[in-house]
Amino acid sequence: MPEISKRGEQSPFSPIRKLVDFADEAKAKGVKVYHLNIGQPDFKVPPKIREEIKKISSVDYLPYANSQGEKELLLAWQKYLQDIDIQVETKDIAITTGGSEALIMTMAAICDPGDEIIVFEPYYANYFGFANLVSVEVVPVELDSKNGYHLPSEEIIRSKISSRTRAIFITNPNNPTGTVFTKSEIELIIKIAKENNLFVVSDEAYLGITFDHTTSYSILHIIPETDIKRAIVVDSLSKRLNVCGARIGAIVSKNEEVMSVVNRQAQARLSTSTIEQRIVAPQLKDCLSYIEEIAERYQNRRDAFIGPLEKELNIKIHRPEGAFYTMVELPVKDADEFAKWLLTDFRENGETVMVAPGSGFYATPGRGKNEIRVAYVLKEEDLEKAAILLAKGAKAYQKISR
Ligand SMILES: Cc1ncc(COP(=O)(O)O)c(C=O)c1O
Repeated sequence: MPEISKRGEQSPFSPIRKLVDFADEAKAKGVKVYHLNIGQPDFKVPPKIREEIKKISSVDYLPYANSQGEKELLLAWQKYLQDIDIQVETKDIAITTGGSEALIMTMAAICDPGDEIIVFEPYYANYFGFANLVSVEVVPVELDSKNGYHLPSEEIIRSKISSRTRAIFITNPNNPTGTVFTKSEIELIIKIAKENNLFVVSDEAYLGITFDHTTSYSILHIIPETDIKRAIVVDSLSKRLNVCGARIGAIVSKNEEVMSVVNRQAQARLSTSTIEQRIVAPQLKDCLSYIEEIAERYQNRRDAFIGPLEKELNIKIHRPEGAFYTMVELPVKDADEFAKWLLTDFRENGETVMVAPGSGFYATPGRGKNEIRVAYVLKEEDLEKAAILLAKGAKAYQKISR
């Protein structure tokens, strides 16, 4: 038989989804599973989008959309950016199939096979999978829970840059840590990018979802006009408008060459979905109050989860400033085995909890072994229950794995 490619062989499993079969087996046996493994909130679709879904039910034709994106949505994205004090033209935007496609296209547009990108670790695990698709090396800069996963010194960041480095990737607010990088941290990244002639790719899927009066800055708020062409924003409506399944994202950049490549890539894949672009545009045009509202609800959810878990396990957990994730260090040796065991063996009144093992969010071997990533996307009462279940599970596992 012909062999699969080396790239295919090295394609990683998603740490967020790799335990799904075990969860399905548990559910088939009647076990209730609290899902903390995936950033898929249980909020209802915003009313304006529901209205658009109703309207669209009478379509007779379903054509391809424009490759760059439907005019209506491009204008809506421009308006949203204008509302947060970012001025761009519609030619600076390309609509993509989620932030996921935006990341793949961006990597393909700025990197050749074997080139390197700097990422801050722990990082959004799928960066590794996307980099694999385009044969790009992920070079991690280690972040530390002790300072809330904020940036390390500039010397440490610089030490990871080689002649093959093409870009520094920053996720702000961050998944999986929930950290919101400050203005001066973003300025530092821009400074290092400038010194080394690099792009800065800013993944802003969670922009605006912040807590305790923290502000999240887009790279486009901060980068000076002289360096604006280094900046590429990867954006997504999945979380901000709570429409993960619509698969709508964007690339925003004032670099004409980058946008020309992105538009050619977009033409090659014809278009992204037509209906979904139409149903989200009216909400995006006027969405700041919705984002504020969900941010407040996530803050309550964060507290509903972290408080009981800290108390039950007698540990201190980093309180994230934004997004809806946190990394948690548990008193277990192997969080991969623990996460699987929670699904296969652990039950408390017919219930268990599903988490994402931490190791998949790191490229450095050995890191994240005793960590999990939690997405606090359930109702507060469910999160409290899930936190207690998780703590009980960790204690029980500690005993049997000694
Ligand atoms: C940081 C980050 N970037 C990008 C994505 C991709 O999201 P989507 O493809 O749904 O837009 C996610 C999804 O969880 C994410 O957390």
